[in-house]
Parts: sequence; structure tokens; C-alpha cells
Amino acid sequence: MYSVPQTIFKYLRYYLTASNGKGHGIHSPFVFDFISTVLNDKATYPAYTKVEALRTKLLKDPAILEVEDLGAGSSVSQSKQRSVQSIAKNAAKPPKLGQLLFRMVQHYQPGTLIELGTSLGITSSYLALGNPAGKLWTLEGAGLVAQMAGTNFEALQLRNISLIPGNFDDTLPALLRESPSVDFAFIDGNHRLVPTIRYFEQLLGKLHNESILVFDDIHWSPEMERAWETIRQHPAVRCTIDLFFIGVVVFRQEFREKQHFTIRH
Ligand SMILES: C[S@@+](CC[C@H](N)C(=O)[O-])C[C@H]1O[C@@H](n2cnc3c(N)ncnc32)[C@H](O)[C@@H]1O
Repeated sequence: MYSVPQTIFKYLRYYLTASNGKGHGIHSPFVFDFISTVLNDKATYPAYTKVEALRTKLLKDPAILEVEDLGAGSSVSQSKQRSVQSIAKNAAKPPKLGQLLFRMVQHYQPGTLIELGTSLGITSSYLALGNPAGKLWTLEGAGLVAQMAGTNFEALQLRNISLIPGNFDDTLPALLRESPSVDFAFIDGNHRLVPTIRYFEQLLGKLHNESILVFDDIHWSPEMERAWETIRQHPAVRCTIDLFFIGVVVFRQEFREKQHFTIRH
């Protein structure tokens, strides 16, 4: 992974060069709508209060869990024993990104959603609340962490989530064999080049014109930047949106020419 100074430098470069979405150059109706209706939506939704109350509770929980390390991403500690509060602090997406994912799901109303990397279920809760009529399959390999996520879903009375324990290498192909199609997927675990491309290729077989993929931490490491670049170049991809901490991938045929946007968020 990049060091903190490297990440700050990269972020500053992104911030200074990214479009603010208000100026010229956004001719795509899809991207214009994404920016004005989803990205820049400043309303406060009841889901925010619900999920942030869960986060606050987890951030105060000193309980120690035995955690299997199944992939790159544990940037703070390689230790197998981690407190719930440290997992909530370091693994979960911050409110700003969780809430953006909530608004994406609320806006596009995907029926079948997949999350690779549940952790304690904070972002899963945002995804599930975005479309209560949809169904979220969330995959997590660390057994006790998954168990705790299940308890959190119960506490929030989220009935539209199925938690699948196990390594993505086994659980994703098995899930996809049973899924007719995937409308939305958030890939947030095992931040390495080869697995990330493999998950992308496995998902590809189940995508359609309106499907959306979101990749986490696309500038986290040289490997993740290469993965993002490979995904951007893939012929099936019609449009990508780089928001620095996450990358959005769109397959709509209305993009006759492949387009790439870097938008400030
Ligand atoms: C960054 S955390 C997910 C955070 C969560 N999406 C959120 O925002 O609240 C990544 C999770 O992926 C899990 N993970 C990483 N590699 C995995 C693999 N190969 N199979 C299953 N789970 C894996 C880790 O155990 C970890 O809990």
C-alpha cells in the first residue's frame, strides 16, 4: 500500500485536477444525473441516523475478536486479535462513502446486490437500507466478524441481507452460479491485483446494461491502481467515474465511446 505522505500527495493531485461536476465537459446525461442527483444530494436520510448509531456503538466496543486475514486490506494491523472498535474504525467505509453508496442504491434501485467484504456490516446496512425491496448478498471470510455482522443486521431489523461466510474464492463463484443477474456490486475486500481482476471477470458474466460495480480503494496501492486501470480498459466497460476512494463502473451502451471521469467528492 502507499504510505500516508504518498496518499496525501495523490489525493491533493486528484482534488486539484478533478472536475467539480458543475463546469463544462459533462455531456453524458447519466453522469450529469449521477452528479446532480446522487453525488451532490445533501439531504439527511433516516438511514444515516440508524447506521451511524450502529457505528458509534461499535466504535466503543472493546471486545477482542480472533480475525483470519484473508486478503490485503488490513492496513493497520496484521495481528489476528483485533478489537471491535479498531475494526469499526479502520475497516468500515466512513459515513461520507457509506452514505454515497446508500444514495446510489436508493436512486438506481438495484434488485440484486453483492458486497465482497462485509466486515461488521456498516456499509452492508447502508446498501440494504437503500432499497428495502432489493436483496443484498454480503460475503465475509473472517468467521467471528461475520457473526457479529449478523447480530448487527438483526439489531437493525434488516431482513433483506443474506450473509455468506467463507473465502470469496469459493463463495463468489458459488453465489454467481445461483444468481440470474447482478445489478450492483461493491468490491471491498482482498485489495490485490489478481483477485480484484478475477472478481471483476466473474461478475462480468452476470451483468447487464444497467449494472453498476463499485470498487473500493482504487488508489490504495500500485496493485489496486493497476487493477483499476485494467478494469477501465476492459471492452465491456463503457464509463468509469473516479472518486479517488472508490471507482464506479458503468456498462450502459448509451456510451458509444468509452468515457472516463474524475469527479471531486
Ligand atoms: C475493508 S473490509 C470491508 C468493510 C465493509 N465493506 C464496510 O465498509 O463496512 C474487508 C473485509 O473483507 C474480508 N476479506 C478480505 N479478503 C477476503 C477473502 N478472500 N474472502 C473473504 N473475505 C475476505 C476481510 O475479512 C474484511 O472483513
